[in-house]
Amino acid sequence: MERPTPKNDEIEVKAVDIIVSKSDEEGNIEYANPIFYKLSGYNKRELTFAPHSILRHPDMPKVVFKYLWDELKKGNEVHAFVKNMTKDGSFYWVLAYVRPALNPDGSFRNYVSTRKIMSLTARKTIEPLYAKLLEIEKNDGIEASNQVLMETLNEKDFNEFMLELNNA
Ligand SMILES: Cc1cc2nc3c(=O)[nH]c(=O)nc-3n(C[C@H](O)[C@H](O)[C@H](O)COP(=O)(O)O)c2cc1C
Repeated sequence: MERPTPKNDEIEVKAVDIIVSKSDEEGNIEYANPIFYKLSGYNKRELTFAPHSILRHPDMPKVVFKYLWDELKKGNEVHAFVKNMTKDGSFYWVLAYVRPALNPDGSFRNYVSTRKIMSLTARKTIEPLYAKLLEIEKNDGIEASNQVLMETLNEKDFNEFMLELNNA
C-alpha cells in the first residue's frame, strides 16, 4: 500500500476514546476496535494482518520504537507517547500502553496496545523532545538519540516518566 503524504491536520482523540489493537509477535494487526478504524481511516480489510507501522508517522524518532520492542521482547510492558499517521496523512497523538499477553500455560498469546488521550502538558514536553531526538538520529544515529533520551529521563524509569507527564 502506498504511504500517505503527511499533512498538518490533527484528528481529535476524545477523553472517552480507548483505542485497542492486538498483534502477533512481529507487530502485525490481528484485531482492532471500531475507534481504531475510525481514527486511522483504514477499514478492516486494510488493517487486518497489516503491520502496525502502517500508522508510523515520520515525526516519530526510531529510538522510541526500539525501546518498545526491546522491552516487549523481554516480556515487559511499555507506556509511550506516539504520533500516528492516518490514511489521508493527518495525525493524532496518543499515550500507548503496550504489553505482551500470555496464554494460561505461559506461552505468548499476542501483544495488546491500549491507547488514550495525551495531556496538553505532556504534548508540550514530548513534541520538542521527539523533534530533538529525530534530529539527533538523522545527524548522529540512534545510539546518540538513545543517550539523549536516557539523560532526559533523569534517572526515572521510561514508563514512570511517560505516565507522570500525562498526569502532570
Ligand atoms: C501491539 C503493538 C502496537 C503498536 N502500535 C503502534 C502504533 O500505534 N503506531 C506506530 O507507529 N507503531 C506501533 N507499533 C510499533 C510498530 O510495530 C513499529 O515498530 C513502528 O511503527 C516503527 O516502524 P518501523 O520499525 O518500520 O520503522 C506497535 C507495535 C505493537 C507490538
